[in-house]
Amino acid sequence: MHPWPLFKPMSQGPALQTLPGFRDFYPEECAARNYIFAQWRETCRRYGFHEYEGPILESTDLYRKKSGDEIVDQLFAFEDKGERDVSMRPELTPTLARMIHARQRDFKKPMRWFSIGPFFRYERAQITKGRLREFYQFNCDIVGETAEGVDSEIISLAIDLMHGFGFDRDDFVVRISDRDAWLDFAKAQGISEEQTSAFLQCIDKMEREKEDVTAKQLQVLGTSLETVRQFIADGTANVPRLERLMNQLNAQGKDQCCVVDLGIVRGLAYYSGVVFEIFDKKHGLRAIAGGGRYDGLIRQLCGGKVDIPAAGFGMGDAVIGNLIDKGGEPKSRLTEYVDKAFSIDAYVVVASESKRPQAIAGVQLLRDAGLRVHYPYGAAKVGKQFKAAESHQAAAAIVFGDEFPSIGVKNLVTRSEITIDSTDTLVNTVLEIVNEPHPSPLLA
Ligand code: HAM
Repeated sequence: MHPWPLFKPMSQGPALQTLPGFRDFYPEECAARNYIFAQWRETCRRYGFHEYEGPILESTDLYRKKSGDEIVDQLFAFEDKGERDVSMRPELTPTLARMIHARQRDFKKPMRWFSIGPFFRYERAQITKGRLREFYQFNCDIVGETAEGVDSEIISLAIDLMHGFGFDRDDFVVRISDRDAWLDFAKAQGISEEQTSAFLQCIDKMEREKEDVTAKQLQVLGTSLETVRQFIADGTANVPRLERLMNQLNAQGKDQCCVVDLGIVRGLAYYSGVVFEIFDKKHGLRAIAGGGRYDGLIRQLCGGKVDIPAAGFGMGDAVIGNLIDKGGEPKSRLTEYVDKAFSIDAYVVVASESKRPQAIAGVQLLRDAGLRVHYPYGAAKVGKQFKAAESHQAAAAIVFGDEFPSIGVKNLVTRSEITIDSTDTLVNTVLEIVNEPHPSPLLA
């Protein structure tokens, strides 16, 4: 078993440490990260989403206008050599809106797009809490469609992601809410438009904040903790749209993983209708993923000229990585993937240095057939070479010795051994040993 690779403690001296909240990815850690990426990609493939990417550096104005105060306070922002105010991207949604706005006529709607890349937020880094300053985030969005089916499609994809990692409904819950319902509530309570964003921030932080602090803030804003709590307790009674959404999720067999919970509003400024966050049920970690509708964002970005509705969500690698590390089926799947990434198919043993050229030609034949092959770069004892084959978890060892053109082929799993007459049958013989059917498509 591998230790969870993404969070190994740093052992270097202070001058050589990574910056707080940044990580090195050694090969094992990269393999674990790639496993998460592969799951994200595989689920998106099944939903027919296409991958895209934007730049890592953007104009700071993009976030000032679109993301809201909280994230602007967390920007890695600086002036570039051309005296532009620029920021390392803290999220992708404003970039996506900018990209759509620039070329919206070029694409058939609805667009189903996803992206995987690094993001930067100057937060208080706490690795065990899954809060970093550089993290990877998966984003997937459906753009150009107002129908309510989009909300259930996005949530369904998020749930299938969780299932793909090996989590079931006892492990996580999708808490679904409606930002519009809160905007209506604020209006009915007489909260001014200028104060609405402060009000939403207050609701967003309510669960983590001390009760008396929230009560005071709500009082200053012109409402009360009791009224807010009653609104949350009323649930779908105030929001028929959420009842319809739950019915759709029921048809997709996903409603058991979801609850309507108006305690969710989302911290980012641009959300409008349905919003949601995914939480683990057993370990009290921060949100694994979050998103929702943001129908107004692209219109705001292009000065009110085009109306392009959109909805989507983001999931970071850190919280889901922490959760996978807790064990069980999700950790077994990760370990299997990482082990496979570190294994090879065949090891070519050079038993006689005089036959090295023939052995190297054999290596090339096998590699050309798509097999992963190692061999010794210099003279080494045969026993040492077999040990190397075992340590790389090779399925087969192929021995080139004085008997060449006869070649020994050993199945290192069953320990059976055969001799073949020439390299003509080498590839097929090794493929037979290697090609055992595998249940997981990611390992095929
Ligand atoms: P967000 O809720 O800010 O949403 O981030 C989504 C996810 O990214 C979080 O649930 C968490 O897993 C991860 N994440 C966020 N900040 C950090 C951090 N400092 N360290 C590690 N992981 C983090 C958004 O970013 C929206 N733009 C998502 C979206 C896409 N909405 C619509 N489309």
